[in-house]
Amino acid sequence: MGNLEAPVLDFKALPKIELHAHLSGSISRQCLHEVWLMKKAAGETTLQDPLIEMPPGKHDYDLKTFFPLFSSYIYNLVNDAASLRYTTLSVLRDFAADGVVYLELRTTPRALPAAGLSAAGYVDAILAAIAEYERAEADKPEPKLRTRLILSIDRRAQPALAELTLSLCTPPRIVGIDLCGDPSVPLAAHLTPIFHAARRVPGLGMTVHFAEAPCSSSAGELKTLLSWRPDRLGHVICVNGGVREEIVRKGGVGLELCLSCNVQAGMVEGGVAGHHFGEWWKVDETVVVLSTDDVGVFGSPLSNEYALVAQHFGLGRAEICALVRKGINVVFGGEEEKARLRKILWEA
Ligand code: IMP
Ligand code: ZN
Repeated sequence: MGNLEAPVLDFKALPKIELHAHLSGSISRQCLHEVWLMKKAAGETTLQDPLIEMPPGKHDYDLKTFFPLFSSYIYNLVNDAASLRYTTLSVLRDFAADGVVYLELRTTPRALPAAGLSAAGYVDAILAAIAEYERAEADKPEPKLRTRLILSIDRRAQPALAELTLSLCTPPRIVGIDLCGDPSVPLAAHLTPIFHAARRVPGLGMTVHFAEAPCSSSAGELKTLLSWRPDRLGHVICVNGGVREEIVRKGGVGLELCLSCNVQAGMVEGGVAGHHFGEWWKVDETVVVLSTDDVGVFGSPLSNEYALVAQHFGLGRAEICALVRKGINVVFGGEEEKARLRKILWEA
C-alpha cells in the first residue's frame, strides 16, 4: 500500500468478480516453468525456460512486445491436452487463492495439431478442466470459485475460424463471445455479420475490446463495435466526449477496466492516478468492473487492483463493497449465479 495507514479492507479476503481475464495470459510464470520442466524432461520442447523468456519481475510489456509472447512462446509451450489441463487448473487455483468467487475466463479457440486437438477439442479440454476443478471443490463451503467460459475471436481471425468460434458459443456451456487481439490489426469487415449473428444467440453475452489504443479508436471502428450492441466493453481508453455520451446513454453497459495492465503497457498517462477509472466509477449509468486482463504477464492480481483504487482514488470500505456488488448486474452467468453472488458478496 505504500503508506502507514491501515488498509481499508483485506482485499484478498474480499469476495470478488473477475470478468476480463485471458486464459493464456493468466498463467503464472511459475506454472509455465513447471510445464517447461516436464516437457524438457520428456524431450518434448526445445524452447527456452519461461523464467528466462519472461523474467520474474518484468511486467512492462507494451502493445508491441506483448502479443508476440503468445504467438512465439506461450502457444508453443502450452500445445497439448496435458499442458492445457495443467495450466487451466493452475489459473483457477490462483484466482481462487486471491479471493475471486466468480470468474469469466476467456480464451481464443485454437487447434493444437501436434496433439491432434481441433479448436472444438481445445474448448472441450478447458471446460473439462473447469469441471474437474469444481468437482474437487464441491464439498467445500461457500464462498468458492465458480468459472464460466467466454470464447474470443481474434481481430486476425479469418472468416472460417471466426464462424467456427461462433458455432462453438453455445450457452450455457459458453456464456459469452469476445473480440480481442492486437489493436493495430485493422477491424475486418467480415467480423460484423458474425457478431450480429452472435447477438441473436439466446443467452449469449457479448463483450469487445474497445478503444484500447489510438489505432483502434477511429470514429468508424467505435461506431461499428457499438452497432454490434455489446453488453460490456473492455478497456475503453481512447474515447471522446461523443462516444462517452453514447455509452452512458445506452445505460447498464459493463466497463471492464484493467488498471495495472494499462499502466504497465503505457496505454494511459499519469500512472494509476491518471487512469480513466477515476472518470467512470461514479457514473451511475455504467457498471465498472475491475479486471486483471493478463495477470501472468502484468503481475497484479485482482486483490491488488482493488488496493490500488482504494489508495489512488480514495475509495473506502463501503464504496469498494458497492463497486464489487454492482458488477453482479453485468455477469453473463445467469440468474442462479447472480442470486449466489448476492448472498456471498460483502454488503457495503
Ligand atoms: P488466449 O485467448 O487464452 O490464448 O489468451 C491470449 C490472447 O488473448 C492473446 O493472443 C490476445 O489475442 C488476447 N489478449 C490478451 N490480452 C489482450 C489485450 O489486452 N488486448 C487484446 N487482446 C488481448
Ligand atoms: Zn483483454
